[in-house]
Amino acid sequence: MNTSLSDDWLECLADELAAGGLVIRDDFLPPALIDLLAGECRLRQAQGLLAPAAIGRGGAQAVRQAVRGDAIQWLEPGQSACTDAYLSAMDRLRLALNRSLFLGLEDYESHFAFYPAGAFYQRHLDRFRDDDRRTLSAVLYLNRDWLAEDGGALRGYPGGQVLDVVPLAGRLVLFRSAELLHEVLPARRERLSLTGWFRRRGRGVF
Ligand code: OGA
Ligand code: MN
Repeated sequence: MNTSLSDDWLECLADELAAGGLVIRDDFLPPALIDLLAGECRLRQAQGLLAPAAIGRGGAQAVRQAVRGDAIQWLEPGQSACTDAYLSAMDRLRLALNRSLFLGLEDYESHFAFYPAGAFYQRHLDRFRDDDRRTLSAVLYLNRDWLAEDGGALRGYPGGQVLDVVPLAGRLVLFRSAELLHEVLPARRERLSLTGWFRRRGRGVF
């Protein structure tokens, strides 16, 4: 298990991010916690707590399943022990990133994402046009025994290249929200993740 945020790793992360790439870290959290998070995501889905994800922001928000077909629920502190453990881990990562990369990340927003079989998310950037706070995107996958033929890869386009990342349980992927074009290829079975954004203070927001 490698949950320590070593200086070596943070340095390598800084280089990769500066180059506009994706940073992949396997076994970011213990398998037992990943399984609890997967169970929690399935339970919330079964309870009807996840809603079809919208694209855009504010008044321009709309559900477009031809663009993205996942269902999501935003996390709040205190919802469950396992999501609180995840939020704490992401906050430790936020502080480590601020210490070593001087990113000035102020907070972290995140949601469960549930892609039913057949769902996908077309190519996009994560930063909104009218809100520049999202700085680093972080996706943690919760899928035990995922095979490449199950589809559902995260496809990134770093520097015009194509890079496919298999959504394996415990794998964390980080990239710059304003820079990296990416998409989720159609999944052939249920695909679970926790997706979030480290945010900076917005321009003109005090
Ligand atoms: C997103 C997204 C990637 C993934 O939710 O914005 O691009 O691999 N997710 O789930
Ligand atoms: Mn995205």
